[in-house]
Amino acid sequence: MRFKDKTILVTGGAMGIGSATVKRLAHEGANVIMADIDEAAANERIKEIGSKRVFYQFVDLSKPDSITKMGQEVAGKFDSLNGLVNNAGIVNPTSIADTGDKDWHPQMTINLRAPALCSKSLLPLLKKGPGHIVNVSSEGGFRPRPGNWVYDASKAGICALSRTMACEFIHYGMRANTVAPGWTVTEMHFSKAEEPAKRKEELENLSYNGAIIQRLARPGEIAAAIVFLLSDDASFITGTTIHVDGGRVGN
Ligand SMILES: NC(=O)c1ccc[n+]([C@@H]2O[C@H](COP(=O)([O-])OP(=O)(O)OC[C@H]3O[C@@H](n4cnc5c(N)ncnc54)[C@H](O)[C@@H]3O)[C@@H](O)[C@H]2O)c1
Repeated sequence: MRFKDKTILVTGGAMGIGSATVKRLAHEGANVIMADIDEAAANERIKEIGSKRVFYQFVDLSKPDSITKMGQEVAGKFDSLNGLVNNAGIVNPTSIADTGDKDWHPQMTINLRAPALCSKSLLPLLKKGPGHIVNVSSEGGFRPRPGNWVYDASKAGICALSRTMACEFIHYGMRANTVAPGWTVTEMHFSKAEEPAKRKEELENLSYNGAIIQRLARPGEIAAAIVFLLSDDASFITGTTIHVDGGRVGN
């Protein structure tokens, strides 16, 4: 129960890694604010998690006004925050030659601008916690690969953002770190398949020789690192990145 009487906000908490993080935090005693654009999915997850300490908060992270409104609404309900997980992200593969403005904006605004704006709008509450911040990057921000340049640049950028946050927010007793997951079995990879349940099972059983541990991560394995960094067990860790990728980046 490392988070008894603590309150933590997770963006993109309705699915995948965010949902696993919400679940773990709730089971460790936290009040969790599940901030997401998809109210139906969020409510379904809250029912599944079965905790009275998980609350839904609408936010469209592509819109600065919506993030400001979220900050105001959360401040109306909670006095302080003990953590913020900037988890939500989208991916839209595109090559440099084929890129247009429409490819740049949604990925950069949701993956990189939103974590900065969420941290800013929730800062008054985080200062009171104090609230520690975990930003979610990706192996894509570290490995050379074609076809995902906007996403990969956003995920490299978020590590720099975390380091800036670590330096600026330590004055308030806040730490800021990054978790960089490898390929993980989440809705991001199976929800749009013709048969999502079948695709999920295929991914869970995939033998993957791109990493030392030759399988895909489960959302709970990424959540474990996020929750560790939020906890007092990580009291001397700030401004760093933990790779949870089965050894892929170092491979
Ligand atoms: N799944 C992977 O293989 C993988 C690998 C490396 C990094 N990541 C990163 O981990 C994070 C979580 O990924 P996931 O796989 O769990 O994603 P997912 O697609 O399964 O879930 C994303 C969540 O974000 C929410 N969301 C999307 N757009 C939003 C918006 N505009 N406003 C508010 N909420 C919005 C969705 O409703 C959903 O609940 C992302 O930052 C992703 O880039 C994922």
